[in-house]
Amino acid sequence: MAQAFPSSRSRPRTRKHRLAHRKRRFLLFPLRIYWDGSGRDGCRFLPFQRSLRRGRNTSAQRGTPTPSMEAAAAKPVLRVAAICGSLRKASFNRGLLRAAAEVCEDSIPGLRVEHLDISDLPLINPDLETDGGAGFPPAVEAFRAKVCQADCFLFGAPEYNYSIATPLKNALDWASRGKNCWADKPAAIVSAGGGFGGGRSQYHLRQVGVFLDLHFINKPELCVQAFQQPPKFDSDGNLIDDQIRERLKQVLLSLQAFTLRLQKD
Ligand SMILES: Cc1cc2nc3c(=O)[nH]c(=O)nc-3n(C[C@H](O)[C@H](O)[C@H](O)COP(=O)(O)O)c2cc1C
Repeated sequence: MAQAFPSSRSRPRTRKHRLAHRKRRFLLFPLRIYWDGSGRDGCRFLPFQRSLRRGRNTSAQRGTPTPSMEAAAAKPVLRVAAICGSLRKASFNRGLLRAAAEVCEDSIPGLRVEHLDISDLPLINPDLETDGGAGFPPAVEAFRAKVCQADCFLFGAPEYNYSIATPLKNALDWASRGKNCWADKPAAIVSAGGGFGGGRSQYHLRQVGVFLDLHFINKPELCVQAFQQPPKFDSDGNLIDDQIRERLKQVLLSLQAFTLRLQKD
């Protein structure tokens, strides 16, 4: 049974105890294995602690990075699943997500955007689930698998009647059934719309994210007023405004930094 607190005997009480406790833990468990049911399972090496155990971290060696230390220092490639709430062909919101993929390719090493299509998901209906709630229609299964594989999310969130557009809410609901595929993952939102630039949809999405256990970056926000002059998008929905492209880059950099921070903990 899970213990809420470690026993008072093993709990370090003074600074001296704490240091000794931490050192003992590091020596005993150089490899931390975790599985938290949130889709991030696997093992994580703690190279510095491992080298301590083997007595290799002498001062002479500390200045010379080993190949494993270099690999640990290099930023991993993070998979950003981009999900657009609009099914419209020339959608401005999908245009923002396309621009995000270009920005990453051009100038953000370590971040790769993959668009997840939600247009063929059936309307949410628990009657379509099988195996006592563990099985889903094929399009839903495929979508859920991609959500589980992603390191973080970028939502393009159009505002429909002051709230989240139906296709996006539908997708959020499908991947929340059974094992919640969104849990404990970082996310960012961008939107394009009328006077508020889709801001109300963003705030409703943040509220839904509380129960889904998504962790949104707070800043910067990007709400594009799509109908103001000069035009921000061409007739195909491509972003044509360089200032917005730069602000989009700042959103992506913030998402990258936040994701790396969460994955480190
Ligand atoms: C059903 C519906 C409701 C809408 N409600 C809002 C709204 O509340 N606020 C707003 O700014 N725009 C609203 N719009 C306009 C959308 O912001 C606009 O169509 C926008 O282009 C949608 O995003 P998209 O270009 O990615 O499809 C609404 C559009 C539809 C179709």
